[in-house]
Amino acid sequence: MKMRIALLSAACALALSACGDNSDRADTQTATPPAATTDTAPAATTPTTPPAATTPPPAAPADTMAPAGDAAPAAAGDTKEAVVADCKTEIEGNDAIQYNVNAITVPASCTEFTITLKHVGQLPVAAMGHNVVITTSADMQAVVNDGMSAGLEADHIKPGDDRVIAHTKMIGGGETTSVTFPVSEIQGGGPYMFFCSFPGHAALMKGTITVE
Ligand code: CO
Repeated sequence: MKMRIALLSAACALALSACGDNSDRADTQTATPPAATTDTAPAATTPTTPPAATTPPPAAPADTMAPAGDAAPAAAGDTKEAVVADCKTEIEGNDAIQYNVNAITVPASCTEFTITLKHVGQLPVAAMGHNVVITTSADMQAVVNDGMSAGLEADHIKPGDDRVIAHTKMIGGGETTSVTFPVSEIQGGGPYMFFCSFPGHAALMKGTITVE
């Protein structure tokens, strides 16, 4: 291109009178076809690329969610035993709707057992409340459902719910709470579960509690 223009310019320079308007047309006509061809190829490539680039981003969130979905079952499949000593255990809840354990084994030698819950997050109780509620596995979902409408002021536990074997109060980030209950309450008639009754949390915050 530049070579041709240069040559044309050179030709015009040699024949100044002949080249006025014609040289512009010659340049335009000569330049346009190649330019159009050249521009079309990149132009076609360029529009194609953005859509292609636009497509991956929607796919990316999907990919991001997929690992999260995969991670949940994987985490649920892994047994994370609470550390128990002196008929007590301390477990944690965080701002990601998680306990740090999903299994508590209570020594059969204990008469009473104490669970301390430490909320290691920062969110307030109204946004990320955690508690520990113990029921049979069979009663869990109904207790969760009733707790949802019971409200935060009731720690999301239906008042007088006799399906609840034991429970702590509902706490927010930085707080700690505990509950002590007779081990006989979770012997026979199980299996038993511990979970958080804050709306939507029990699906992720739950675990087994067994006496051995
Ligand atoms: Co919770």
